[in-house]
Amino acid sequence: MSHIAVKTLRYISELTGAVPSDVLIGGSGARVIRLRSSRSDGDDFALKFLSEHDRVVDGHDLPSFRRKIIRQHRLARDLPGVYEPIAMEGHGDDHSWFVTRWIAGSELLTARRFAPPSPSATIMESLPQILNSLAVLYSRECVPGHAEYVREVYLGRVSRRLSYLLEGLRGTIGRDDVLSCCGSVIGSPAEVLQLIPATRGSWIPQCLYYPVHGDLNSSNLLLVDSCDRSFRLIDPGSSERAKDLLYDLGKLVFSVSFFDLLRRRPVVFRTAVNKGSGRLSISMSIEEGWRRVAAHDTCELHRALNSAAGYQRLLDREGAWERALVFVVACHALAESACRLSHARICAEEGRDMLSSALACLAYGGHLLLRHMETADGAPSSVFDAAVEFLTLCRGG
Ligand SMILES: Nc1ncnc2c1ncn2[C@@H]1O[C@H](COP(=O)(O)OP(=O)(O)OP(=O)(O)O)[C@@H](O)[C@H]1O
Ligand SMILES: [Mg+2]
Repeated sequence: MSHIAVKTLRYISELTGAVPSDVLIGGSGARVIRLRSSRSDGDDFALKFLSEHDRVVDGHDLPSFRRKIIRQHRLARDLPGVYEPIAMEGHGDDHSWFVTRWIAGSELLTARRFAPPSPSATIMESLPQILNSLAVLYSRECVPGHAEYVREVYLGRVSRRLSYLLEGLRGTIGRDDVLSCCGSVIGSPAEVLQLIPATRGSWIPQCLYYPVHGDLNSSNLLLVDSCDRSFRLIDPGSSERAKDLLYDLGKLVFSVSFFDLLRRRPVVFRTAVNKGSGRLSISMSIEEGWRRVAAHDTCELHRALNSAAGYQRLLDREGAWERALVFVVACHALAESACRLSHARICAEEGRDMLSSALACLAYGGHLLLRHMETADGAPSSVFDAAVEFLTLCRGG
């Protein structure tokens, strides 16, 4: 940790009387430090600290972090009981930090993230109710969707992020190098870019809702009580704009079906990259127990979605949302591939693995886009099936 981060930590520790314990490295390069109270009835706190880094992807920079802080203030006001209010914050020329109370809960898939794989149905059993509660929160605001929205929020972001990725991977992969994954041809980055607008088809969201989260991966949803299914949200996206219903759902699908596996590297995930003339092949092998758990979780999420009546009512307004969801999840995966590379730049020790992770996200997103095109003849296309298919591809890679 930087000198200024250590100084800040000491200051917060003196103010709160709580003692630093675990340090978690954020996906953006942020550090989250838990401060444990020395009193049995005292609060624990979370300090989140970000220093400025050069050449990071948009969204992981200091201005975005500061926008997140402003959002957290707003969200804690608008959705009390869902977000924690900020207790303290500080800003310097090259860093910012804030402190909230530590939430005594567990990440949606914690048991599966840290322990050896084992089914824990109770976690997924909470999801229908959580999705219904989210539907109520989204409905605080509802304005009509429009075509510009998809261009700005999805297409613009993906093409910006893929340019960043290709710039960073110069020498490893070029726009026209053909990428294959576990023997299945994905295509070149240039082809993937062309598939994106084609996949989107004529999708225009019917409604844009109150932006409840914006980065809803499974570790940003904390289960507080599995009996009454209460939950809290942390780590929202930095954007204030109203969002379509599929945005958060797509993040959750990507997280549960694939991204959570990547975060467990290198225990469960092995990749090898081979480059020949104009071709780049990756072989991925996901440890079998974890691969099965991810496939199982993906099906559970699908089931939870189908049985969440309140959430379904909002989805029904969206018409052919299943097809649009493939596009949304693919966009999130492709955007995330650039984030992996960005992270490699600030966490040098993870650099090599992060490169594989970046390519793995690219392959996952490319696979979904291809799968979507293959079923564009009117056959139902499910992102859940496509994701499980991709996991099967990685069996024993
Ligand atoms: N207030 C909190 N209460 C309980 N747990 C927390 C709290 N803040 C963070 N955590 C734990 O730390 C993890 C990482 O925190 P957070 O989600 O804020 O950062 P990140 O996702 O790692 O960073 P980034 O902003 O780069 O995406 C969370 O997934 C959660 O397990
Ligand atoms: Mg997070």
